[in-house]
Amino acid sequence: MQNNNSSSDLSLNLNVRGMPLSATLYINELSNKLKQQGKKVYKFGLGQSPFPVPKVVVDELRTNAFQKDYLEVRGLKPLREAVAAYHSRRNDIECSADNVLIGPGSKELMFLLQFVYYGELVIPTPSWVSYAPQAKIIGRQIAWIKTKEENKWRLLPEELHKICENDHYKPRIVILNYPSNPTGVSYSCEELQELADVARRHRVILLSDEIYGELTFKGNHCSIASYYPEGTIISGGISKWCGAGGWRLGTFTFPESLSILMNGMAAVASETFTSTSAPIQYAAVKAFSGGIEIERYLWNARKILKTLGIQIHDLLLNTGIECPEPDGAFYLFINFSNYSDKLKSKNILTSLDLTTNLLENTGVALLPGSVFGRPEEEYTARLSYVDFDGARALAAAENVPAESPLPENFMDTYCSHLLEGTKAIVAWAKSL
Ligand SMILES: Cc1ncc(COP(=O)(O)O)c(C=O)c1O
Repeated sequence: MQNNNSSSDLSLNLNVRGMPLSATLYINELSNKLKQQGKKVYKFGLGQSPFPVPKVVVDELRTNAFQKDYLEVRGLKPLREAVAAYHSRRNDIECSADNVLIGPGSKELMFLLQFVYYGELVIPTPSWVSYAPQAKIIGRQIAWIKTKEENKWRLLPEELHKICENDHYKPRIVILNYPSNPTGVSYSCEELQELADVARRHRVILLSDEIYGELTFKGNHCSIASYYPEGTIISGGISKWCGAGGWRLGTFTFPESLSILMNGMAAVASETFTSTSAPIQYAAVKAFSGGIEIERYLWNARKILKTLGIQIHDLLLNTGIECPEPDGAFYLFINFSNYSDKLKSKNILTSLDLTTNLLENTGVALLPGSVFGRPEEEYTARLSYVDFDGARALAAAENVPAESPLPENFMDTYCSHLLEGTKAIVAWAKSL
């Protein structure tokens, strides 16, 4: 057979063939086009921390820039010790360095987990954009659980039970992400305990994605691993609470009973990425060890995010745009269903139509609910409130006494772009 190297002849893995680069590409491209045309764009589609990496951690990276050796595939021992100590301290979980695996981002570790484990992936929606594509690439089955807005888009124990009782012995990984991307909503300790009881009854593996745990506004993040230690893998890292997404470092913490999974992942890691960047691992020891500078940084970051999240939430709610009040992270999941008739009359029929129309008319870029696993025709979208100068806001918050709230006009003064963008959404909805 003649091979003319045309793209249609290339034997792409069928699990990858036709897969777009990323769910957010279209909105990003449109935003860039509008910007090039000289229009003002509000980047409310971004998913990265607005804050700089804490200075003590940056200093540690500088000091360790000379570290050049390949490190142990599971991760630098002092870092694994620091991560284990962190979980013992913060979540009251018994673990040691031997239970921790370090990787170049928690996303990569999730991919390895799905690769090594053979079972179904259970994803409550709305959920983060990458869980499902990873399962598709590897060829794993996905079971979606559509959570309800009236439950603040949280998974209920009976919903988990229903999907598991269907085939009690099916091997499963259930993903639980809290505070959630895209809703910002979290669970109380009591709610986690109830979910843990169901997970134990059905012996599922829980992948507890706690990457935003430290950004719980009240600083009281609770881990489900406290209630179901034998079946929970905690996923974490420095991308969100430490502002170091581009440093690429993630952590998985396993119970003793799941060591076989960890060993399998380490074996695959040794044949693929070898080990995570050495200087970054040395610097991350500082981040996980905590201390007064880190505590102060987190205290102020939470305070800022809480102030912004609640104010934007209130502004939207007053206009009839529904969204649950966030408990942490930097996202709001907003629902324009109160405007359905008006949207339909303008031929805006899907969440992508909605976000495209909003962007073209106001310059506000949101991500459509469909990329988070919601039905196309549901008028939902994710708003992320990180489009401001985090270093400047943090410096201002440091001048406010620790126990005092930020001044009323904080958002106006330091995050005026956010306020402007939110007002543009409100005006757009009213004009429909
Ligand atoms: C919910 C969630 N989990 C995991 C990740 C991946 O984080 P990283 O690979 O940077 O550790 C992200 C990043 O956006 C996320 O939002």
